[in-house]
Amino acid sequence: MKLVVANWKSNPATLEEAIALAKDEDIEGAVICPPFVYLEEISGLLANAILGAQDVAEDEGGPHTGEISAAQLENLEVSYVIVGHSERRALGETDEMINKKMGLVTDAGMTAILCVGESLDIHNQGEQATLDFVSSQLAKALEGISQKGFVTIAYEPIWAISTSQTGLEGTPDEAEQIIAKIKTKLADMGFPDVRVLYGGSVDASDAGGYLSKDIDGVLVGGASLKADEFKQIIKYA
Ligand code: PGA
Repeated sequence: MKLVVANWKSNPATLEEAIALAKDEDIEGAVICPPFVYLEEISGLLANAILGAQDVAEDEGGPHTGEISAAQLENLEVSYVIVGHSERRALGETDEMINKKMGLVTDAGMTAILCVGESLDIHNQGEQATLDFVSSQLAKALEGISQKGFVTIAYEPIWAISTSQTGLEGTPDEAEQIIAKIKTKLADMGFPDVRVLYGGSVDASDAGGYLSKDIDGVLVGGASLKADEFKQIIKYA
């Protein structure tokens, strides 16, 4: 079965809403990534879906104010951790930090969902520029990672994320084409069997298109906050 990952980002505002949404989305095949503050509560109620987190500290436990360690996530039965999301990279997260996070998550036996993807500027320079950029992100993030079975990639072109306002969106054909090339690059780097998901404004109207392609799943932001829409997306998977 293909993977459908819900990235709730900084939503919803109350625990009550988070519990209701988690109950609605507790479906086999779903990975639910709530904000850290709801992880413990949601960990206890999921029966079918798998629990994920949106980020992790780059260091092990210790004097790191405000950070959440890989060990803390593991102890809450978190199975997936999103690493290197473009919204975190935009806040200053570097390839070096991402590489450290990848090591901690995979060494702890959780699956890292490593996000990569190009800006609109790079996209406009053509496919080779995109591929060069993404390959460089992958090489830096995956350097020295030995627990290869715990690596999943999400290809998320930055220009396609949260674009219900701008109308900019990719297409399933484009995504399949670039993901095939990303998989070839991954194999060249010694990661031959890694799943590659697509993300970027995927919703119920186009999820069927993406999931019918040679793409291993989708990472869903905005549409994962609407249970009905999310359930529809899961059906395609
Ligand atoms: P979106 O977010 O579906 O709202 O574009 C996807 C993501 O950022 O993971």
